Amino acid sequence: MSTETLHAQIDWDELGRPTSRQYGDVYFAASGLEETRHVFIDQNDLTARFSALGDGQRLVIGETGFGTGLNFFCAWQLFDQLAAPGARLHFISVEKYPLSHADLSRALALWPELATFTAPLLQQYVGIHPGFQRLVFDGGRVTLTLMIGDALEQLPQLDAQIDAWFLDGFAPAKNPEMWTPELFAQLARLAAPGSTLGTFTSTGWVRRGLIAVGYKMKRIPGIGKKWEVSRGVFQGPTEAVVSTVKPWFARPTPPAGERHALVIGAGLAGCATAASLAARGWRVSLLERHAEVAQEASGNPQGVLYLKLSAHGTALSQLIVSGFGHTRRLLEQLQRGRDWDDCGVLQLAFDAKEGQRQAQLAGAFDAQLLHLLDRDAAQARAGVELASGGLHYPEGGWVHPPALCQWQAGQPGVHVLTHHHVLDLRKVDGQWQAWDGDQLLASAPMAVLCTAAQVRETAQTADLPLKRIRGQITRLAQTPGSAVLGTVVCAEGYVAPARLGEHTLGASFDFHNDDLTPTVAEHEGNLAMLEEISADLTQRLGARQLPVEQLQGRAAFRCTSPDYLPIVGPVADREAFSHAYAILSRDARQVPDVACPWLEGLYVNSGHGSRGLITAPLSGELIAAWVDDEALPLPRGVAEACHPNRFWVRGLVKNKG
Ligand SMILES: Cc1cc2nc3c(=O)[nH]c(=O)nc-3n(C[C@H](O)[C@H](O)[C@H](O)COP(=O)(O)OP(=O)(O)OC[C@H]3O[C@@H](n4cnc5c(N)ncnc54)[C@H](O)[C@@H]3O)c2cc1C
Ligand SMILES: C[S@@+](CC[C@H](N)C(=O)[O-])C[C@H]1O[C@@H](n2cnc3c(N)ncnc32)[C@H](O)[C@@H]1O
Repeated sequence: MSTETLHAQIDWDELGRPTSRQYGDVYFAASGLEETRHVFIDQNDLTARFSALGDGQRLVIGETGFGTGLNFFCAWQLFDQLAAPGARLHFISVEKYPLSHADLSRALALWPELATFTAPLLQQYVGIHPGFQRLVFDGGRVTLTLMIGDALEQLPQLDAQIDAWFLDGFAPAKNPEMWTPELFAQLARLAAPGSTLGTFTSTGWVRRGLIAVGYKMKRIPGIGKKWEVSRGVFQGPTEAVVSTVKPWFARPTPPAGERHALVIGAGLAGCATAASLAARGWRVSLLERHAEVAQEASGNPQGVLYLKLSAHGTALSQLIVSGFGHTRRLLEQLQRGRDWDDCGVLQLAFDAKEGQRQAQLAGAFDAQLLHLLDRDAAQARAGVELASGGLHYPEGGWVHPPALCQWQAGQPGVHVLTHHHVLDLRKVDGQWQAWDGDQLLASAPMAVLCTAAQVRETAQTADLPLKRIRGQITRLAQTPGSAVLGTVVCAEGYVAPARLGEHTLGASFDFHNDDLTPTVAEHEGNLAMLEEISADLTQRLGARQLPVEQLQGRAAFRCTSPDYLPIVGPVADREAFSHAYAILSRDARQVPDVACPWLEGLYVNSGHGSRGLITAPLSGELIAAWVDDEALPLPRGVAEACHPNRFWVRGLVKNKG
């Protein structure tokens, strides 16, 4: 996708309303709020349904065409007025051409009475790129999942149950692609039992199409210039819907009993998981063996929000774009300059191969996410001399990972238990018990292992293929000359603008060393990577004159999986799994109708490699979605690509069962 096509092209009419140049249609009628309420709120009976929503219950709204978000704000406002404090609203909307921030601000200024709702969205409206983008509001009470792309590409990837549909994709005559039988089939596939819909159109072929997939349709008098609008109630599928989900990727039964979870390990993965569960009303005990959170891999002074993408839309690349957006929006709640900074990231084209890769990426992604800079422009951005130009990620930057961890671990409902070293997990009477020798530390119906490579030290997950890779960073004091550094610059390594007077220089990779004492050799390696990034910056830092033995730094272990995707999801009993699906080792195409032998209530969130800042926070949302039987925050295919069971299936297929 190129820049020209990502954003909506907006014209403003004489009333100051946005109209779409791409579709030649208005985003909302002159009576805006009144029409939205009549068509979408009233035809889906949302006043009654929100009033009936009790604590712990949720309603999921699906929408075709997010536009300015007006329908979302109206729904949120009503939910806020009527639903119980512990109820949740999930709004899922697909949008091919998101408005730019400037156009969205201008459009939303038309509704000052909705400012309580529009202001938080405007604050978080960053990192909105193709694919699934999750936004979290009001402490997790309201979730917005935007699917950026064509409805017919995005909806088939969605795994959700929609209670109420808002069909709002411009007039059928002006945008017939948004009203096709294929799209209607998706509305039916995703419909929860008793799902309803409201739409401003009463066009005959749209009605017939919706009836054909199982909606009972009724015409209703319209308002304003609309003569008639329509409402529909899902009567169940007209044809048997065959589930295409393989049993080993099916949803486990949600844990029963008290909503109390043990989250073990308080790095980026554990803190994110704890926060996502707590936002859904779970009481979370976060067990950490150290005296504080973020003491291992997540303890570096600065990490980089760097997106290692593929131009081929791989699962990893999709995860990175979605994860980056999510982390970036979370960071808006932390303090810029101290906890993080969106100074941008510049990846240098340090050789011809890297240059080629970058050119491909620039053709595949929108310019707001990344664009090429020639050497002069790159130097102007970085403020120092560079050997080459490269790829600039303007929304990237650096993060102080402990700040993100502390913020998440500090959310209401999360209880941090430090000095809690879990050596053993046992399931007794429906409870997962965490033991340290003969001391019972805590127990709950659910447990999530977020212990990085130590996941393998727990018997139930000992076979997960996780590997440790040692890495070391070097800390360099800021100098008057280095203060000009305006962006993170990466080649093989990276250097970040100073945080609290210190630059972080990273990072080495060592597959063999198990000792975490920083070594001189790796400091030297980091300095060599700095030279490669910029001889000028090396000089400004006086790095060649520094006695290497006196350099400060820290080392920790990254934790990776063989396919570089994290391992996130429910855990099955390995041995029972091999028996249940043994036939795969003879015929890989078989899909036996055998339920997966889950270890009920046990989940894992690990394997975040060198990019935990980008993948761990969204993985917390993914865990919560699996646990609470919610809409997945990622395309089904990406969630499956991260699923722990992928390794067992591959093992069986390779006949290694
Ligand atoms: C040198 C280096 C540089 C990096 N640079 C970047 C970067 O620039 N950008 C980026 O995105 N990522 C970077 N990473 C990767 C990133 O730091 C990791 O992906 C991320 O921190 C992983 O988080 P985690 O929670 O899975 O693991 P960890 O942070 O290691 O957390 C695991 C936690 O579990 C606890 N634990 C383990 N076993 C037990 C037990 N039995 N009982 C109780 N607690 C237990 C540990 O004490 C620890 O706190 C870097 C990593 C390293 C090492
Ligand atoms: C009438 S506007 C939506 C108004 C919006 N609900 C609001 O409250 O402002 C229709 C939206 O559908 C989007 N759209 C049109 N065709 C689409 C498609 N094929 N896939 C996804 N979105 C599409 C348009 O870009 C536009 O933003």
